[in-house]
Amino acid sequence: MRAVQVHASKHYDVLIGSGLLKQLGEFTARVTQAGKAAIVTDSNIAPLYLESAAQSLKNAGFSVAAYVFPAGEASKNGETYLSLLSFLAKNQLTRADCIVALGGGVAGDLAGFAASTYLRGISYVQVPTTLLSAVDSSVGGKTAIDLPEGKNLAGSFYQPSLVLCDTDLLDSLPEAVFRDGCAEVIKYAVLFDAELFSYLQETGLSFHREAVIARCVELKRDVVAKDEFDRGQRQLLNLGHTVGHAVEALSAFTISHGSAVAIGMAIVSRASCRAGLCSAQTRDAVCSLLHRFSLPAAVTFSPALLSSAALSDKKRSGGTIQLIVPQAIGQCRLLPMPVENLEAFITLGV
Ligand code: GLY
Repeated sequence: MRAVQVHASKHYDVLIGSGLLKQLGEFTARVTQAGKAAIVTDSNIAPLYLESAAQSLKNAGFSVAAYVFPAGEASKNGETYLSLLSFLAKNQLTRADCIVALGGGVAGDLAGFAASTYLRGISYVQVPTTLLSAVDSSVGGKTAIDLPEGKNLAGSFYQPSLVLCDTDLLDSLPEAVFRDGCAEVIKYAVLFDAELFSYLQETGLSFHREAVIARCVELKRDVVAKDEFDRGQRQLLNLGHTVGHAVEALSAFTISHGSAVAIGMAIVSRASCRAGLCSAQTRDAVCSLLHRFSLPAAVTFSPALLSSAALSDKKRSGGTIQLIVPQAIGQCRLLPMPVENLEAFITLGV
């Protein structure tokens, strides 16, 4: 097992290793005095892991309630959120109790947002079951639900008390879902770590799960420690996401988050190269690593559509949108861009 300590407004451990779900109760009892734990999970994960999670919590002395919602991004909405709050109230969870988010990004974001607002905040534990949530969404305290007007438009910064990542859970993922998470792993390598980038070039999908997840979490931990509230350097973690969110929205979410981020990274890398911000070698390295992981690097939406969808994203601030551009492998920077220039920039990369 590896442990990464996160030092933000709350200090907590991210534990990563094989077989950890069986110890969920024991580790949760170390970080909370709670008598009750409400597990929040979805209809795909519940048949696989709810019983083990609940049993482990019961063995450690918790009484357990479980809230199961229909799997999918469509559930990350105001209605599910309010119904979850009612569930917590009906089950008489107090401020001393806790929530356990068992699942991928949707479960983590939804449960985290409920934890941050129910009784003005109760503690929660993240148990990621996808690679994407293990390396990104479960760490760093961003919680959110979607609004009809866009993704993640209501949310909070609210750190968990513990993140427990059982790498065995990733083995049950369909390959496409696992590959989706690889886009976020590649993102960390392009942003911060040329050595990780070279390692991924060698291994492709068969990288060492525990070591790579721990490395990505360390990289994210360092960013969150410096900029927990996303005012500056944390925005680097949005590499590929400005165009990626546009791709997701334009496809009505039929293109997955990881694939959309991969397309976003490729478009930004090609555009950056043509704009003289990075070398052709950097551009080709990014695109060939995406190819190595069978991730897409292009899409048929026009630059005009991509640009207007990107501009409705929350990363826009007044007349400027923050792009993240590669300078070299392991080194990226924020590029504030006047909104009227975005379409021309995307045109360079499609
Ligand atoms: N997923 C990006 C962040 O946590 O800032």
